[in-house]
Amino acid sequence: MAKILKTSSRAINAPLSPIRKFVPLLQKAKKRGLDVFELHIGQPDLKTPAAILNKIKNFDEKIIRYTPSNGIPEVQSAWKKYFKDFGINFDESEIIITVAGSEAIVFALTTVCDPGDEVIVFEPFYTNYNGFSAMAGVKLVPVRTLVSTGFHLPKRAVIEKKISKKTKAILVCNPSNPTGTVYSKKELQMIVDVAKKHDLFILADEVYREFVYDGEKHYSIMDFPKARLRTIILDSVSKRFSACGVRIGCLASKNKDVINGATKFAQARLSSPMVEQLATVPLLLNSKAYTKKIVKEYKKRRDAVYEGLQKIPGIQCLKPKGAFYITVKLPVKSAEDFTRWLLAKFSYNNQTVMLAPAAGFYASKGLGKDEIRIAFVLSAPKMKQAMKVLRIALEKYNDKF
Ligand SMILES: Cc1ncc(COP(=O)(O)O)c(C=O)c1O
Repeated sequence: MAKILKTSSRAINAPLSPIRKFVPLLQKAKKRGLDVFELHIGQPDLKTPAAILNKIKNFDEKIIRYTPSNGIPEVQSAWKKYFKDFGINFDESEIIITVAGSEAIVFALTTVCDPGDEVIVFEPFYTNYNGFSAMAGVKLVPVRTLVSTGFHLPKRAVIEKKISKKTKAILVCNPSNPTGTVYSKKELQMIVDVAKKHDLFILADEVYREFVYDGEKHYSIMDFPKARLRTIILDSVSKRFSACGVRIGCLASKNKDVINGATKFAQARLSSPMVEQLATVPLLLNSKAYTKKIVKEYKKRRDAVYEGLQKIPGIQCLKPKGAFYITVKLPVKSAEDFTRWLLAKFSYNNQTVMLAPAAGFYASKGLGKDEIRIAFVLSAPKMKQAMKVLRIALEKYNDKF
């Protein structure tokens, strides 16, 4: 008899992405002819800028080749200029071009942590941190934040209590996916102070840097001089240039050991894509001209979602100040069951909504069961209609019980 082959515990224990696990139901709903508002995934509907598309269309070299592992020098320079526009100074040698933000996060975790080490995260957090830490054998140690306080950080002592001998880093996503929270200067100063006191790295996921509303100011961890040598910036063009499929991002740090370590992982995977790297250069060199316009558009979407949600009895949420997500507490026991029901059983005027149940954005078991994340990635009129459909769906769903 053949031996039973067993895959690794890290593969067995890694979670499926809660964002993608209901896709088979979505496909079935579409097959039935339903018009589904897809609010489960951060895939913007905005056109990728012509400057990127044209660079790809007009690529005229004879070989699509490997590029230097840390990135094509012209692309590293373009990122340097991009950061400089935000007052953040990196030298080209401090920037590694990665296969989007995802690879930058994996490189950062594997560069600063050994298997079994711990990283502090604020939950709810970007769900794929679970998958990345499973790959790296790293344990995420969650610090809870609450819908009632707009998911802002708890007191310093609450965070410090979670720090152990194995803690290597604090991972902070600002503005936050999935909550839309923009951390204040004071909150970030507190993270910097804690990191300094306990000698921790700060992994700063700032892929939504530009997405701030209502005159809110975004502070980068790099704005804090005392944090600079312990910070790793994790970045990506995916959202800010509506170019998720380009798969280009970067890891940037002033810490030489970090760059030396991550360089080895970058060399092991040889290079990031050549054509796509080059395609991002024009936008990186002059990013604000584009992002200013789209942030205005996202604000309209945010307002449409928030207004729509205010009309739904029994829900709880605060207005998100950044990114393009909102985490909402619903008047249901199981947001997963509700999500499934929306796709399998419900329609209103042939329409329904696809949501991301928020439990998968928590590391603590049992939390977020009655919460969902909405990505406001569709036009404001569509978001308005989607919130109406959600309201009617909740009334109907709750009538069942
Ligand atoms: C907070 C955050 N970080 C990183 C990523 C990774 O994105 P990408 O790999 O497309 O850069 C995402 C994608 O949704 C995200 O929301």
